[in-house]
Amino acid sequence: MASYDVIIIGAGPGGYVCAIRCAQLGLKTAVVEGRATLGGTCLNVGCIPSKALLHASHMLHEAEHNFAAMGLKGKSPSVDWKQMLAYKDDVIGQNTKGIEFLFKKNKVDWIKGWGSIPEAGRVKVGEDIHEAKKIVIASGSVPASLPGVEVDEKIVVTSTGALELGKIPKSLVVIGAGVIGLEMGSVYARLGAEVTVIEYLDAITPGMDGEVQKTFQRTLKKQGLNFIMGAAVQSVETLKTKAKVNYKLRKDDSTHQLDADTVLLATGRKPYTDGLGLAELGVEMTKRGQIATDDHWQTSVKGIYAIGDAIEGPMLAHKAEDEGMAVAEVLAGKHGHVNYGVIPGVIYTHPEVANVGATEESLKEQGRAYKVGKFSFMGNGRAKAVFAGDGFVKILADKETDRILGAHIIGPAAGDLIHEICVAMEFGASAQDLAMTCHAHPTYSEAVREAALACGDGAIHA
Ligand code: NAI
Repeated sequence: MASYDVIIIGAGPGGYVCAIRCAQLGLKTAVVEGRATLGGTCLNVGCIPSKALLHASHMLHEAEHNFAAMGLKGKSPSVDWKQMLAYKDDVIGQNTKGIEFLFKKNKVDWIKGWGSIPEAGRVKVGEDIHEAKKIVIASGSVPASLPGVEVDEKIVVTSTGALELGKIPKSLVVIGAGVIGLEMGSVYARLGAEVTVIEYLDAITPGMDGEVQKTFQRTLKKQGLNFIMGAAVQSVETLKTKAKVNYKLRKDDSTHQLDADTVLLATGRKPYTDGLGLAELGVEMTKRGQIATDDHWQTSVKGIYAIGDAIEGPMLAHKAEDEGMAVAEVLAGKHGHVNYGVIPGVIYTHPEVANVGATEESLKEQGRAYKVGKFSFMGNGRAKAVFAGDGFVKILADKETDRILGAHIIGPAAGDLIHEICVAMEFGASAQDLAMTCHAHPTYSEAVREAALACGDGAIHA
């Protein structure tokens, strides 16, 4: 029987980061992972592979739409789908092997197999029992199911199947206009599929700033995505090589049907805690099926902790990573901390969409006095030089104190630009602090400064 200070169940971004930090802090650490490779959903069938396909398909889009205007003439590239998938798999391989290397470097043991917890202090993997002073559950999430829709990962797929379709479909119906639906919908639209997104609500990307939602949807429509809004998918019938999607419009209860070669189910994810033995242990769960934890990520059973998608909060890799680092510090007797008010969200479409902190809608709801500083990328020389003038930066600041409360960006490199605002928020900065900081010219980040200036005496290039 092996004995550890900490055993972590799950080697996704939450689990592997937690393990590395535990080891760095001097704790004898092991990770239980049943997949053939480390990295969890994010590296194997999520964030990383989807970014590879988004990049490749964006290159094609650039060649088809912008090359000629720049004086780059010639035939547009054709798509070798097999090679594109091989490129994606190579990217996955490089990343998962990288985690293996980091485990070796930090002396983290990888216990291969699926773990369960027979009692606090013990983890069972196959027939082996391993001892651990502390256990961290980082078991992640799986796609949520939808009644009437049976996933076969061939014709009706989740995000996992969408990353390895046998061929590029002529028509793709996406159920759900959330992050997964729009990222993968963008990939296949760029590769030539007729993409239709069916969304239950009247706006895409629920919870996002309203102005961004509208601009984003308009931009995606221009790129060829079709939207059926206010429609609930009722069922999907699978035929030999295609599917029929039945949906009902909420406004008049009328029912409709749409044919598709492929259907992507992207209506959310749910915590994955099967087989851990949590019910037998008496671990308390929330009403939404998440593992309940206290302020230090400890579950209702002493010595068992939980982080990431399996607990409350946004299902984001970086939120899990932050919790992983924080819980490692708690276990090492330090003070782990996560600022849940400053967790950025990014959608890796083109243009990218990024947000952090409050939305205008949430501030109105709180009755809080705020001001808005907005700047369009049309006024940013660098963006205009690369056909990326669509979109804007919007900063929300307290009306009295000028303290930054949130930011919303749609435009080039939005997913990187947002972090300037995250750092500012962590330091309790005012919009003026940002506005008074010298920004290199010509960069996209000047648009952030201009939005900050717009919170005060006004932007220069507006
Ligand atoms: P989501 O929760 O973002 O969006 C699901 C959408 O489906 C919602 O707009 C909802 O109204 C709609 N919907 C639900 N039932 C429906 C029905 N019967 N008919 C039509 N529409 C319906 O879920 P998604 O996109 O599956 O993503 C899951 C999780 O993965 C999210 O928490 C997301 O944050 C995370 N993720 C994050 C990424 C990123 O940070 N770039 C990338 C991919 C996933």
